[in-house]
Amino acid sequence: MTKHIPVLLGAILQELGDLNGRHILDATFGAGGYTRAFLNAGASVVAFDRDPNVIVDADAIKQEFGDKFRFISAPFSEMSRLTETFDAIVFDLGISSMQIDVPERGFSFRGDAPLDMRMSGAGQTAADLIAQSSVATLAKILRDYGDVSRANVLARAMVQSKPQTTFELKNLIYNPRDVAPVFQALRIAVNDEMGELRRALDAVPNLLKVGGKCLAVTFHSIEDRIVKNTFRDWSSVPGNPLIPVAADAEYKMLRVATPDAIELEQNPRSRSAHLRGVQKSY
Ligand SMILES: C[S@@+](CC[C@H](N)C(=O)[O-])C[C@H]1O[C@@H](n2cnc3c(N)ncnc32)[C@H](O)[C@@H]1O
Repeated sequence: MTKHIPVLLGAILQELGDLNGRHILDATFGAGGYTRAFLNAGASVVAFDRDPNVIVDADAIKQEFGDKFRFISAPFSEMSRLTETFDAIVFDLGISSMQIDVPERGFSFRGDAPLDMRMSGAGQTAADLIAQSSVATLAKILRDYGDVSRANVLARAMVQSKPQTTFELKNLIYNPRDVAPVFQALRIAVNDEMGELRRALDAVPNLLKVGGKCLAVTFHSIEDRIVKNTFRDWSSVPGNPLIPVAADAEYKMLRVATPDAIELEQNPRSRSAHLRGVQKSY
């Protein structure tokens, strides 16, 4: 299995500066690449991941760092339940190399496997979603999350034939260029990725210390727009009554970073990544 190479970690560490004694929320533990770097730099870390397969890696880090690390096996929208505050809250969105590389999880169209795509392993699979959706709902998912051409025609074919495996789905897709976008669109819908992101961002203002930063690495244009617009809303209207923070909080947008040529060459998965950030100034 390919090892997951953390994306834009250098830019994140540069943005966060001295981490010694800082308290960080890593919303997307994955292979623990970010978490380990924060811990090595002297921070304490609370990490979320809803994929139970990462618990072994989290346990290994716990063995090494003890009380400085806490892992919560849950969707990151549940950060709203936390009562502590953080110097930084970091999201590295999307899926990990480990999730793509295990064919039985159904994220990839390179091998034939059940059409699953659930990060948490619980709830509705991609095959269930197709079987239970109307043509209109499915077409909207394909258009909104995959920009798929002739989405209605494909959605109708999917609803009629109810694919159960990745290859059954792939064989329905007429235009080869649509294969990756169709798989991406279904994955986003199955895991309610945009709903999760919106709910977690709603919780961030209450969890950030003054001077604290929220950083997000995005890979998809819709999640990038959600992050950008949310950070912009916070920073453009100080004391915005829609934001559940003390009225004297003010936010400053941070510069956007993208991978440089070296990172792009070493890690093609970083291709569409954007790092966005905002700082709670006072
Ligand atoms: C790109 S990987 C993170 C990689 C990590 N930064 C590293 O360096 O190893 C994304 C991880 O976030 C998790 N994830 C995605 N959406 C989530 C959500 N809503 N709640 C909890 N975990 C989520 C996935 O299961 C996956 O393990």
